[in-house]
Amino acid sequence: MNILLLGSGGREHALAWKLSRSSSLESLFIAPGNAGTKNLGKNLPIDPNDFDAVKEAVLDNNINMVVVGPEAPLVNGIADYFENDAELKAVSVIGPNKTAAQLEGSKDFAKEFMKRHNIPTAKYQSFTKDTLKEGLEFLEGMKAPYVLKADGLAAGKGVLIIDDLATAKKELSNMLVDDKFGNASSKVVIEEFLDGIEMSVFVLTDGDGFKVFPDAKDYKRIGEGDTGLNTGGMGAISPVPFAEGGFSDKVYNQVIIPTIKGLKRDEIEYKGFIFLGLISVNGDPYVIEYNCRLGDPETEVVLPRLKSDLIDLFEGVATSTLSERDIEFDPRTAATVMMVSGGYPEAYEKGKPIYGLNGVTDSVVFHAGTKADGPAVTTAGGRVLAVTSFGKDIPSALAISYENAEKIEFEGAYYRKDIGHDLL
Ligand code: AMP
Ligand code: GLY
Repeated sequence: MNILLLGSGGREHALAWKLSRSSSLESLFIAPGNAGTKNLGKNLPIDPNDFDAVKEAVLDNNINMVVVGPEAPLVNGIADYFENDAELKAVSVIGPNKTAAQLEGSKDFAKEFMKRHNIPTAKYQSFTKDTLKEGLEFLEGMKAPYVLKADGLAAGKGVLIIDDLATAKKELSNMLVDDKFGNASSKVVIEEFLDGIEMSVFVLTDGDGFKVFPDAKDYKRIGEGDTGLNTGGMGAISPVPFAEGGFSDKVYNQVIIPTIKGLKRDEIEYKGFIFLGLISVNGDPYVIEYNCRLGDPETEVVLPRLKSDLIDLFEGVATSTLSERDIEFDPRTAATVMMVSGGYPEAYEKGKPIYGLNGVTDSVVFHAGTKADGPAVTTAGGRVLAVTSFGKDIPSALAISYENAEKIEFEGAYYRKDIGHDLL
């Protein structure tokens, strides 16, 4: 199997790492990849959203399967592009088509879907520029905090949680009238605030059969104690102790089964990962969001726990035989600690040399934002490295990650020292 993996973050390094452990892999290409993926395959300097360039790489390298890491190419229709091209039709794409990817690409679509199929989620209503007045009135009838969500993709920044009504009203009109998030906020979902603890679950489906991956929790804020600005994710833990038993069963019965059945009933063919962003409110699950891809940094703890062959599972997706495949997980706890550039998630510098990677023992270091500079590795993003370790429990896994994070140096390096503490 010749595989082309699209993306360049920690999630993609973890995917590349797992794919390269399969005996059915012949060659792996990553577009564009990073300094970590470079050691597992060949990086190609291609933008995953440039479908013509992706096509050329697929034909030049006899690619049989394209694994799509990030959401943008999916929401932009890369699966449909392959399906509708005579030369690419036989190449399997792991990731949903444009319609199915709307579960992430449009908050309104996702909310409608959940309402239609009785999937627990916050109460909501959607508004456009033409219904701004109704939107303002709707806010008046809600309780603080106010949750405003840009309908479309907004690079993780499109959700505002606001404490006072006046600001919420102002922001609603900024989004709808002044295009605060461009076209992404031409429609805004206003929803009820849910108070609880968040976690995520990934489900891989071929549109019929499905496999549930272990749950994980990520840490979104930059500061310890979950303070400060939102980031792409500062660390992750899997499994999540509070989800064991009853909560997981509820997620399975109230969210996963109705989601898979709902897609079928709506005649939406879904092939790939569904990411369930969940919140537990007094022990009951609610869906905060769907994503059409794996999470980052959750992937860096979930995939290391997968004992089964990932290519075998992906072949199951491609040939609609997923239910015939086995899936097995490592029962141990995996923890990852994200090392980020100084200043992130605001302005930060790139190009800082990274030292100490060779001194790491007992952890896997997934590169998130790095670049190979000859034999040297330099920083190339806000999130730089995810240091993943196993342990019999959360503290023992974290101890190894922190021990190794201390050995790695680059100017301005920062990481949270309280990952997982809320779960103890
Ligand atoms: P989303 O992009 O929909 O995942 O939203 C980003 C973050 O905003 C989530 O991870 C939650 O922390 C928070 N959030 C979104 N919707 C709600 C809600 N209805 N109630 C409370 N927090 C929310
Ligand atoms: N870690 C959250 C996400 O990938 O969207």
